[in-house]
Amino acid sequence: MSAPRPFRHRHLLDIASLAPQDVVQVLDASEVFFEVSRRPVRKVPTLRGKTVINLFYEASTRTRTSFELAGKRLSADVVNISTSASSVTKGETLLDTVKTLEAMRPDVVVVRHSASGAPAYVAERLACSIVNAGDGQHAHPTQALLDAFIVRRRLGTLSGLTVTICGDVKHSRVARSNAELFRAFGSTVRVVGPRTLLPPNAEALGVEVYDRLEPALRGAHVVMVLRIQRERLEGALLPSLREYSRTFGINERTLAYAPPEAIVMHPGPMNRGVEIDPRVADGPRSVILDQVEAGVAVRMAILYLLAGEAGAAPVA
Ligand code: CP
Repeated sequence: MSAPRPFRHRHLLDIASLAPQDVVQVLDASEVFFEVSRRPVRKVPTLRGKTVINLFYEASTRTRTSFELAGKRLSADVVNISTSASSVTKGETLLDTVKTLEAMRPDVVVVRHSASGAPAYVAERLACSIVNAGDGQHAHPTQALLDAFIVRRRLGTLSGLTVTICGDVKHSRVARSNAELFRAFGSTVRVVGPRTLLPPNAEALGVEVYDRLEPALRGAHVVMVLRIQRERLEGALLPSLREYSRTFGINERTLAYAPPEAIVMHPGPMNRGVEIDPRVADGPRSVILDQVEAGVAVRMAILYLLAGEAGAAPVA
């Protein structure tokens, strides 16, 4: 058997930096770790002796927990830093914080930050690998990779699909990363929502823009629902959540515009009853909890590809 191909990247900062073959490499490695995560003993020695630091400047449940589990299931030493309980509260800068962490010789630092570009800024200044766990409105590459993992498993391909992204695209790093990924594989990406929640240059992103759900969902293979980011709306972009829900919410009535085999995704956390009705979120077409499960496997794959020994198999 030939040795695994080394990953061509030192960092994972966005989807735009990855070629389709890199995405396939991540997803293939994720399949191995998905199987590991379903074993009675969900631990392999792949990253024994390696250190992963999770540095989160923003709240997170899914991403942070799954990176922690991913590192632990690979036998790495994992340290979680919540900035609200760190010296950031005393005024320490991002650069001083990461330089301090670097002095402790981690192999990977996973960064979530409200400022677009913060992980890239850190990557230019540190010797270890940096993983972007979500930066501002820019990118959330591991979310797009785990979404692609589920789509490939459910639909058998990433090509030739129609992926409709619904809602608050303007503020969404998830939308941006998914649009880049699915377009790179030759799928059609549609965005739909009120104009105030779509980026002004949406067409320039290579996506089709709709202002009504019915045509946007017609023929869609994937219905990707985004969270209404109440914290970023500043009151002016939506007349009311009730009206938004009536016009753009995904419920049993509006989901009927899509083909019966279309799957429903949501990166979480959800506003139940706003962008998605609980009967859809918990219904048979929802893959939302599958996305969460895939998150651990995909993040194991990323840590393995960035910090594993060159040529070492994912699982010995
Ligand atoms: N999807 C996602 O990034 O969720 P968290 O904010 O809980 O990590």
